[in-house]
Amino acid sequence: MHVYLDNAATTPMAPEVIEAMTSVMKSDFGNPSSSHFYGRQVKALVETSRRTIASHLNCSPSEIIFTSGGTEADNMALLSSVNALGVKRIISTTIEHHAVGHTIEALEKSHSIRYDKVKIDKKGHVDLAHLEELLDQNIPTLVSLMHANNEIATLLPLKQVSDICRKYNAYFHSDTVQTMGHYAFDLKELDIDFITCAAHKFHGPKGTGFLYVNKKNKVDSLIHGGAQERGLRGGTENVYGIVGLAKAMDLAYEDLQGHHTHVQSLKSFMIESLSALFPTIDFHGETDPNRSLYTVLNVCFPKTEKGGMLLFTLDLKGVAVSGGSACSSGANKGSHVLEGIQADMTRPNARFSFSRYTTKEEINYALDQVKHVFEINLR
Ligand SMILES: Cc1ncc(COP(=O)(O)O)c(C=O)c1O
Repeated sequence: MHVYLDNAATTPMAPEVIEAMTSVMKSDFGNPSSSHFYGRQVKALVETSRRTIASHLNCSPSEIIFTSGGTEADNMALLSSVNALGVKRIISTTIEHHAVGHTIEALEKSHSIRYDKVKIDKKGHVDLAHLEELLDQNIPTLVSLMHANNEIATLLPLKQVSDICRKYNAYFHSDTVQTMGHYAFDLKELDIDFITCAAHKFHGPKGTGFLYVNKKNKVDSLIHGGAQERGLRGGTENVYGIVGLAKAMDLAYEDLQGHHTHVQSLKSFMIESLSALFPTIDFHGETDPNRSLYTVLNVCFPKTEKGGMLLFTLDLKGVAVSGGSACSSGANKGSHVLEGIQADMTRPNARFSFSRYTTKEEINYALDQVKHVFEINLR
């Protein structure tokens, strides 16, 4: 049996998304920039997809800029804040995705940006009083805080932070790559400057996503070239990816509450089962359903000899999970997120992440394999 519990790294594509993309691949191949019939037909697909996405988020289609995914969208938001909005300082945390953290470090070097780190607690929650303290200085600032942490699931109170940013006249970017397609967004209500999306995190294709830019703001291009995306992102559009992204969004928001309830029940079952098996088990980050991303559970197992081979043995048994995030696991470096919350790195850890396609049978199989690793008697 093979069980995929690494949905925070990426998700399998929904059959309906594959169908939508392949049907367009078979019938439409024009370049959206061409003015003839072939081009116009494909341009219409791109613009319909943009409208679909905007309607799910309650924003204007002109506020959506298609990108190659989350990393590019995060880069564009951060660079734009500096080049187009005059930001001189970025406030963020040590536990952002590298798409944000490494970009701020690069801007520190290339643009002499000041990088202030707001305090977080042991579960990865941002210290909002400290954020206000930092903001209470007269420096043009962008606050960049992720909506949900991809490793430890901790959720940011987005509206509360956006209100604080408005109070101090700071711009606010949130990396919503893990929450887009999993939570509802009302961008009129939220009043945020930038959010980001990667389709492959909610059963869409890889290599496609978007940056939302509040229409109050100017943006700067990351990729120079043709006039695509109103001159903001050169290069022929990833038409099939964009069609797949819009379809994935339709499917995600069609029954958001149903998916949420199903996935949260699997996560709660796993927490209860593991807690019953290991009296000294801990969970990294937040597990309170109201303050934690329901698709992610980061488990801190007891320190035993057996646990050292946890991920390797689970893989041999057909259970795919990850330690830390997939982007850094190949580099064999410890997780900067676990380090950031001062977790006990000597204990074996595994991130289990679920999707609407995950079944209870799969969770039971994974739990049985965990028991094998730790030599706990099977039922
Ligand atoms: C929180 C977060 N931000 C950004 C990214 C990068 O997205 P992409 O892989 O589409 O570039 C990821 C992907 O793992 C992520 O989890």
